[in-house]
Formats: sequence, structure tokens, C-alpha cells
Amino acid sequence: MSRPAKATVDLAAIRHNYQLAQQLAPNAQALGVVKANAYGHGSVAVAKTLEPLAPVLAVACIEEAIELRQAGIVKPVLLLEGVFEADEIVTASEQNFWIMASGIEQVELIANAAIAEPVTVWLKADSGMHRLGLTDGQVQQAYARLSALAHVNNDIVIATHFAAADELDSDFTLQQINRFASMTEGLKTPVSLANSAGILAWPQAHGNYTRPGIMLYGSSPFAQAQANADQLKPVMTLASEVIAVRTIEAGETVGYGRSWIAQRRSTIATVAIGYGDGYPRQMPNGTPVFINGQRAPLAGRVSMDMITVDVTEIGTVNVGDNVELWGHNIPLNEVASCVGTISYELVTRMPLRTPRLYINATTNGAAAV
Ligand SMILES: Cc1ncc(COP(=O)(O)O)c(C=O)c1O
Repeated sequence: MSRPAKATVDLAAIRHNYQLAQQLAPNAQALGVVKANAYGHGSVAVAKTLEPLAPVLAVACIEEAIELRQAGIVKPVLLLEGVFEADEIVTASEQNFWIMASGIEQVELIANAAIAEPVTVWLKADSGMHRLGLTDGQVQQAYARLSALAHVNNDIVIATHFAAADELDSDFTLQQINRFASMTEGLKTPVSLANSAGILAWPQAHGNYTRPGIMLYGSSPFAQAQANADQLKPVMTLASEVIAVRTIEAGETVGYGRSWIAQRRSTIATVAIGYGDGYPRQMPNGTPVFINGQRAPLAGRVSMDMITVDVTEIGTVNVGDNVELWGHNIPLNEVASCVGTISYELVTRMPLRTPRLYINATTNGAAAV
């Protein structure tokens, strides 16, 4: 029997979540954002799932785009962080990778490129995130410069990124929308503003292309309940099995550093999952896991390959019982908030060591990759 720690990825849920993104913004085209190994879910498997649905896929950098091409993906791939060297523009034009130009340096690299095939360019405008993007005065200037060039395709898309679209009470997203409108005033060209939070909660920002990421993976970007986000289906289930069960007396301690002390006679189940499998070491005592239809609290420090759980209150637990760390029963966002982070980080940091088991690739059936 192999080690039971695994991440099951429900590809039907990804399709459902993508379709939700499309339905919520019916006049826009939704890209499939598969950067960072598709937020830890496996970029090739996810890209193959999205390719029949999405007109364009999006990654951070050219290495991620090349991985998709090598796996047989043929749809255009947008490089969200653009290019870093002139050579990459040649590859982009040959491979139909679309380039985001986020600064004047990148605009000039593209303008001066010697390429046979024209390249598709998006311009990123800084409407308030102040991380990347052309400033107010630069957007129109860069647009004029690139649209005059024969080696840049028509229909340059102008994009921006939101800093606080997940904060539903803040008016900062509206300020960004307004600033973006004035930056692009008079330009008859497609625009792209919305990430997942923008798609779910800011219909004024749907534009011509949306860029859903985390919502494809079934996780809401919001801290509170939100009607559209409630329709998302969880995609990843991180699970393993109980590999030992023991009873300890009151006053005894569990695990490295003895950080959990039994307040009474306690039953401790040891589970084959640890920080080497993507379950963070900082996870505090009391974090829920799901065993035999019930929640039970983490007891003791997370080891590299194991955790320990106080199962005193949940009846008989046996070696071999399934344990869910996150998924349908323990929402990813709940686990993330226990450890002071966001769902994005938990899934993106899932190591390769943890096998991904893909289910519902077509109508039914499972495949391990
Ligand atoms: C430029 C850009 N667009 C879209 C996304 C997707 O964002 P989200 O996962 O919040 O939907 C990201 C993610 O960081 C991004 O950097």
C-alpha cells in the first residue's frame, strides 16, 4: 500500500467554476488563470480541462507558458508578468504567447523587437495598486506607440489589477474603475479589469476580458459570505489516513516541543500528513480535521510527515480511517484563516511530493498524474 496522503482535484468542479465566471460576466471572455502550477492543482491537467472552454489561458511567465505548449496546449497564453528579455518576445511571437507590458521598459523592448510574426500585447495600467503598470500619462503614449507598429497585432487590450476588490465595504475598487476609465478615455480598445473578486462582486468592472484565478479552484476571495461566491464548488480535497491510535494519560504531552498537554485521558490519532505534504507547520492546536463524519482538533505540532489529532470525543477511530484536512467538509478558507493566511497560499504551496489524483476528467473516471 502506498502512502495515503493525496490531493484529489475535481476537474468537473473546475469546469463548473469557470462556467460560473462566464455566466456572471456574459459579455466578457474569461481567461483561465493557471499560473503557479494552476494554484498548486497541476497546470497541465487544469489547462487541458479549461482549454475547450476558455479562449485564452494566463500564466505568470514564459517558462510556465512553454510547459503548457510542451504538453500540447494550443490556445493563446497570456504572460501576466510580461517578458524580462528581448529573446522572450521572439518566442512569444512564434508560440502565440500574449505579452502584458507593465512598464515603459517592456513597451520599448516590444517596440524594438525583430520578429517575423506579429505579437499580441496587453498594456497594464496602474490604477491604484502601485505594484506594476503604466502611469496615467504613459498609457495613451504607449498605446499610440505600439498600435503604430506592424509587428504588434491590432486590438491591444488595456488591463488593470485591483488592490482591494475582496473588500466589499471599501470604495477603492470604484476609485480604481474611475481612474482606469480616465486613463483609457477615447481609446476604442478592449479592456480587462476583473480578477475573481471583480467578477463575483463588481459587475461594473467586467470589461471585455476577465481573469478568474482563485474562483476556478473553488475558493471565495471574500472573508464573508457572498451570494455569487456561494455557488463555487470546492476543487481540491487534501486527505490522508490514520496510521496509529493511542491513549495517553492526563498531563502527558504530544509531539515536538510538547506544545499540547492532555487535560484528561485522551485518544490521539496519528495521521500521515505533514508540512512536507503542504499542511503548514504553523497550523495551531485546535485546527479542525474531518474523521468519520466528524470534526476533531489538531493536537500538537505538525511534523514533516505526520500530524496528531485529539479524537477523544468522536468515538472509535481506527488505523486506515480517512482524514480530510480541507475539502468539502473543512473549507479551505477556514483552514487558511486558522493559520493566518489565505487559500491562495495553502494550495500554491502544495509540494510535488503530494500526489494529485484527478477525478471527473470527462464525465467520470479518475487518473493519477
Ligand atoms: C494580473 C492578474 N490577473 C488575475 C489574477 C487572478 O486573481 P484571482 O486569483 O484573485 O482571481 C492575478 C492573480 O494574482 C493576477 O496577478
